[in-house]
Amino acid sequence: MKIALVGYGKMGQAIERQALKRGHSVVLRITSKNRDELTVAALQRADVVIEFTNPEAAFHNVSFCLNAGASVVCGSTGWNAQIPEVEAMANANNSGFLWASNFSVGVNVFFEINSLLAKLLAPHSEYRPTMQEIHHLQKKDAPSGTAISLAEQIIDSNSRYSSWHLGNKTIDDRLAIEALREENVPGTHEIRWESEVDEIAITHTAKNRDGFALGAVLAAEFLNGKQGIFRMKDVLGI
Ligand SMILES: NC(=O)c1ccc[n+]([C@@H]2O[C@H](COP(=O)([O-])OP(=O)(O)OC[C@H]3O[C@@H](n4cnc5c(N)ncnc54)[C@H](OP(=O)(O)O)[C@@H]3O)[C@@H](O)[C@H]2O)c1
Repeated sequence: MKIALVGYGKMGQAIERQALKRGHSVVLRITSKNRDELTVAALQRADVVIEFTNPEAAFHNVSFCLNAGASVVCGSTGWNAQIPEVEAMANANNSGFLWASNFSVGVNVFFEINSLLAKLLAPHSEYRPTMQEIHHLQKKDAPSGTAISLAEQIIDSNSRYSSWHLGNKTIDDRLAIEALREENVPGTHEIRWESEVDEIAITHTAKNRDGFALGAVLAAEFLNGKQGIFRMKDVLGI
């Protein structure tokens, strides 16, 4: 498979390493410095685009690629409100699109456990949830896209919660997400359900970026040749 990498920073480079290991080739590498090389002609050399840039650049990059007829795997976080618009563009252009707040296999299993725990505790109002995420100092968005996904899963699975806010105290139906930034942390997410008598905590700790990168390559392999909107659940069959 021939891959175009839009965004060639920490993630783009980790994705390239995983892609090469799996026998794929990288035919285009775009950063903020050579954006003019992202052209329809250049995209025609690739089977799939993998976009990992930032919240400000993602919408433009993804729209451009989808309108050029390319299929796109996107991992940029912090632009959730615009995702339905690009999904409509993918359908209109008969392209494929797969966005995930987190591509790691472990996190996608963790998502299922999170939903189940929120559902099991729904009848037990004495348990109150809080969430904490920790990332490296360069991360531009807070809370993380993964934390937002985890919060949305709790809201969908437990009718006592209807929104989330940045903070360390869950207030009424507003789930707290505390976002901490520390040196060299690839991504840690913890959800605690606390009652007067006990506490249940689930934690996912990424040790490095390789899990996200491998997941993005698996998603590109899955998306290659397909049209429509997909999620990591489709890739992993969960
Ligand atoms: N979904 C997941 O599993 C997952 C996992 C980890 C990270 N992420 C997300 O992935 C994104 C990238 O993370 P990262 O750690 O790789 O960031 P990074 O190291 O800062 O790399 C960002 C890359 O995007 C390029 N870029 C910036 N503006 C651009 C533009 N307008 N057009 C094209 N390229 C542009 C940068 O170029 P310059 O170097 O020239 O500025 C750089 O190559 C973030 O949103 C992060 O939250 C997602």
